[in-house]
Amino acid sequence: MSQQSTPPNTANEYDPTLPETFDSAHEEFARLRAQCPVAHSNAFEGFWAVTRYDDVLHILMDPQMYITSVRNVVPGASKTGRRPPLHLNPPEHTPYRRAIDRALGGARVAAIEPATRSIARELMQKFVALGEADFIDEFASPLPAHVFSQWMGLTQAQTDVLWRTAKAYVKAWEAFDRESVAVAGDQLAKLAAELIAERRRSPRDPQVDPTSSLLEAQDLDGRPLPEELLAGCVRQVLVVGLVAPPIVMGSIAVHLARDQKLQEQLRSDLGLVPEAVEEFLRLYTPYRGFARTARETVQLQGRTIQPGEAIALVYASANRDESVFEAPSEFRLGRPNLRQHLAFGRGPHMCAGVPLARQQLRIALEELLIQTRSFELSGEIKMSGMPEIGPIAVRLRTTSASPRPSGV
Ligand code: HEM
Repeated sequence: MSQQSTPPNTANEYDPTLPETFDSAHEEFARLRAQCPVAHSNAFEGFWAVTRYDDVLHILMDPQMYITSVRNVVPGASKTGRRPPLHLNPPEHTPYRRAIDRALGGARVAAIEPATRSIARELMQKFVALGEADFIDEFASPLPAHVFSQWMGLTQAQTDVLWRTAKAYVKAWEAFDRESVAVAGDQLAKLAAELIAERRRSPRDPQVDPTSSLLEAQDLDGRPLPEELLAGCVRQVLVVGLVAPPIVMGSIAVHLARDQKLQEQLRSDLGLVPEAVEEFLRLYTPYRGFARTARETVQLQGRTIQPGEAIALVYASANRDESVFEAPSEFRLGRPNLRQHLAFGRGPHMCAGVPLARQQLRIALEELLIQTRSFELSGEIKMSGMPEIGPIAVRLRTTSASPRPSGV
């Protein structure tokens, strides 16, 4: 593997477009961490993949050098305007982020919990009643969409549009299908515009409603946020929490289906679930394609990276770095440094939805364990492409915890 200081950028040292199984991408990341920790890929118009924990953290903690405003994801580059908070660098980023954080405080997240519980309970009842079905279609994908709609205060009709459009958007993005990305992007922009107009007419409590919070926010000069960026931000917020949770839930289901002993251990002690969720987030980190570009030419692990070249932060690989996490491919409860994982990123762009995500994953796993006596895989697992990593179809056969009514 070449490690010269000025490598030709045509080297194809990592190819995320090859078919993957549930485990194969992680085998490839282990190889890259050992042999080529900053690897160039020719896929998606070319990018660098940074796979070691320390390098990923170094980039995240230097937002002055490594910015998001040129490229923030691989594949893809926004052709439809800037969408805060991800697309802005600090300090311009700060007011958007503060406004979103305000609507995600502890009290707000706690207030959403009962709704999340009842949505999860109902979806799980329907899923288990089917006996055998796709876990992601029936449960893991609709749950975050419904929880999100609670948080954003969407009507049922808006929730339906959001869910349909977000699914089409993610599929088109992964297929690198720019035309379909643009169509879905326009629909999301329309929904965002509708929401902004509604909240302008009847503002809600900014501690509760993210759109109202953004409408009240001011830029660094004390003026209202510029209209175009405000619209871009609401559009970004609309989809940002819908992609990762289904993939993590799918990974958890696959892992537990393959490890019946652990499934039983967690079922018999639900107090272990929060820590298990955290370890699952480390082990099955759903992103490998969030990106930065350098402001100046930089050297990383002996590679020369030019300004403007996309640098993918392979969070999924960093979280299995053997120099940080002992036996990184094993699921272990009680890891002393578990909270160091980078599943939610770090630095100014660290996930705004961490408490909401944790709550949702905990409730999802609890309901899966409570409502089943056991579950197992009953079909092929379909994997996502970049920027995500993880399953997008997981067929499960379940045994209900309670006797199923006759005829079902
Ligand atoms: C399993 C669930 C989730 C995971 C693993 C996850 C992961 C991430 C990661 C890694 C980033 C940082 C991107 C970067 O470094 O460029 C991010 C950003 C973000 N996430 Fe999440 N996320 C999840 C769920 C959610 C939810 C439920 C919300 C709901 C509000 C949310 C809102 C956001 C926002 C607003 C940003 C942009 C932050 C900024 O640029 O300042 N996420 N997320």
